[in-house]
Amino acid sequence: MPRTVRDFRADTDEPLTMLTAYDAPTAAICEAAGIDALLVGDSVGNAALGYDSTLPVTVEEIASRTGAISRATEEPLVIADLPFLSFGVEEAQSIRNAGRMVKEAGANAVKIESGSHTVSLTERLVELGIPVLAHLGLTPQRVNELGYAQQGDSEETAERIAELACEHERAGAFALVLEHVPEDLAREVTEELSVPTIGIGAGPGTDGQVLVVDDVIGLSTRSPPFAESFGDVRGEMEGAIGTFAERVSEGAFPAEEDSSDAEVEDDAAL
Ligand code: KIV
Repeated sequence: MPRTVRDFRADTDEPLTMLTAYDAPTAAICEAAGIDALLVGDSVGNAALGYDSTLPVTVEEIASRTGAISRATEEPLVIADLPFLSFGVEEAQSIRNAGRMVKEAGANAVKIESGSHTVSLTERLVELGIPVLAHLGLTPQRVNELGYAQQGDSEETAERIAELACEHERAGAFALVLEHVPEDLAREVTEELSVPTIGIGAGPGTDGQVLVVDDVIGLSTRSPPFAESFGDVRGEMEGAIGTFAERVSEGAFPAEEDSSDAEVEDDAAL
């Protein structure tokens, strides 16, 4: 069955689940766990590409990772993040960049770190058949202006976030990510909107939750205060890679039975 934003919107009896994913094996594991949507976030910059912010991430980097995620999965909605300055400078270029994610990489939708400058762009993309996930609150592409602090903690800024949420809903956004905002504000926006809200560091009152997958599996070395780790993949990797290094250095691997003459299983990857 084709994955559509309509299915995603309709599926809010239980809280919606969204995780970032940057590679095919992780995406397949997320799909098997029943995750509703996979976000190819520009957080790939920090998580996998060695940048110290999301600002250097390129359209090519997101498109390449998005291709891997859409090839590896069938059910979850695949959402490609539009990187810093790939949108909002010129409308035609913003549309071409968003279009690449759908046409070339197989995304079902794009996410845009939103503000007053993205309302008409959202409307235009939706008109053209490119569904948009809006993103308000802490928007890490504005790190040079805001840092990574909680947003919407004054009456004035909370009101502005609530207004922008309504403006993006009216412009046709199919859902809204609310990042690092007070719980009360997230609840209020969720009640106000008819499209689902997906929270990250926004408390339990939203329609769904998203986290960076590296934080969830325990691979990140630095996580935001609102992230939670549900595993210890870093510990597992350290153990396996350390054991490999040790076994090779002491001459214990490969042993006779590991030699290349051993029969290869038909479906083994070579
Ligand atoms: O880039 C990203 O991973 C994100 C999520 C944390 C919402 O924007």
